[in-house]
Amino acid sequence: MKTKAAVLRTGHGPFTVEELEVEAPRSDEVLVRMVAAGMCHTDLRPREQPAEDYAGPQVYGHEGSGVVEAVGADVSTVSVGDHVVLSFASCAACPSCAVNRPSYCYELRQLNMSGARPDGSTCFVDVDGQPVGSHYFGQSSFAGMSVVAERSVVKVDPDLDLVNLGPLGCGIQTGAGAIMNSLAVPEGSSVVVTGAGALGLSAIMATQIVGAGTVIAVDRHQSRLDLARRYGATHTILGSVDSALEAGETASMTEQILDLTGGGADVAFDTTGNAEVVRAAYEGLTFVGTLGMAGVGSGDVSFGFRSMVSGRSIRGILEGDSVPSEFIPYLAELNVAGSFPYHELIATFPLEQVNEAEAASMSGEVVKPVLLF
Ligand SMILES: NC(=O)c1ccc[n+]([C@@H]2O[C@H](COP(=O)([O-])OP(=O)(O)OC[C@H]3O[C@@H](n4cnc5c(N)ncnc54)[C@H](O)[C@@H]3O)[C@@H](O)[C@H]2O)c1
Ligand SMILES: [Zn+2]
Ligand SMILES: [Zn+2]
Repeated sequence: MKTKAAVLRTGHGPFTVEELEVEAPRSDEVLVRMVAAGMCHTDLRPREQPAEDYAGPQVYGHEGSGVVEAVGADVSTVSVGDHVVLSFASCAACPSCAVNRPSYCYELRQLNMSGARPDGSTCFVDVDGQPVGSHYFGQSSFAGMSVVAERSVVKVDPDLDLVNLGPLGCGIQTGAGAIMNSLAVPEGSSVVVTGAGALGLSAIMATQIVGAGTVIAVDRHQSRLDLARRYGATHTILGSVDSALEAGETASMTEQILDLTGGGADVAFDTTGNAEVVRAAYEGLTFVGTLGMAGVGSGDVSFGFRSMVSGRSIRGILEGDSVPSEFIPYLAELNVAGSFPYHELIATFPLEQVNEAEAASMSGEVVKPVLLF
């Protein structure tokens, strides 16, 4: 069958909305009619990499929500007509999956970022008969219809508004899960969140659920710091507009954190992926504080030996340690109950305005663009 999709043909070029042919689902796949799909910063990673490294064309999108149209013969978790949120894919068999920590699946790269099924095939063909990359995070949801890995599919309450649910599949569960699961922030803790975008603001909302004490937000957009205050930050620090912070600014960020927390934060959670910001937040920890890192940067980040052996911990975080089938419905319940108002971060765009959605995210104007089909 045919569908409309946003295709990224070159890493630094615009998305083009095209008609693609979609295969029928295989035995372990689900055909989903998309209602909406959130845009996460990770969909835009090709922009940060050398143009010549781009392997596309590819359909991105990994925060889909929609309705099941057809299921493969071996699919047992969903049926036709179910409302679903799409999250990351995992293998179900590796050592991490065996202990129910699927976000650290040994096959994560292959199943989520290879642009194809594990056998190298894709489910999309363009008008010239050429294959287009699919199965991004098991789903490639910037498409009206997509063939999705069963492990990416989470059934949700049909009474909920599907337009708002997609972002739970990545950005929102990562921010909230970092605080609630990965770092399991104890009540009364002081927390620094660097980067107040989709991950950072959902992390700040989660600090209110766990009952954190001092909460400091850092961002380079004042508008995002204002949002951070609305959702629970007690203090804010305006960072640099440039990607590389001057040494003086880094030191000042650390000093402000030490000052505001009376000697150091218990927890820092980075969502900027900027090495200078990460180090500034790390230096602002107590001697036994923990840094959680979710922002994806390039190159290296370094920490002094002496500051490390003081007793500090550093944790890499993927998808907030979420088990999607449990955590996504739980976050949706918290949202309905009013304690997790992440839907206020969403602005919707028709699929045709996918490039406008990206621009609005990059300018800081919109925190969580959601494409509508
Ligand atoms: N680890 C994971 O599982 C996971 C999941 C989703 C996204 N990510 C990554 O997390 C990061 C954040 O994603 P997002 O969707 O929240 O992005 P976003 O663009 O919505 O938010 C990032 C925020 O960081 C701020 N920022 C960036 N550099 C800064 C600097 N030098 N100083 C101060 N503030 C700065 C930006 O202004 C922005 O508000 C991205 O790198 C994304 O790829 C990781
Ligand atoms: Zn696995
Ligand atoms: Zn994401």
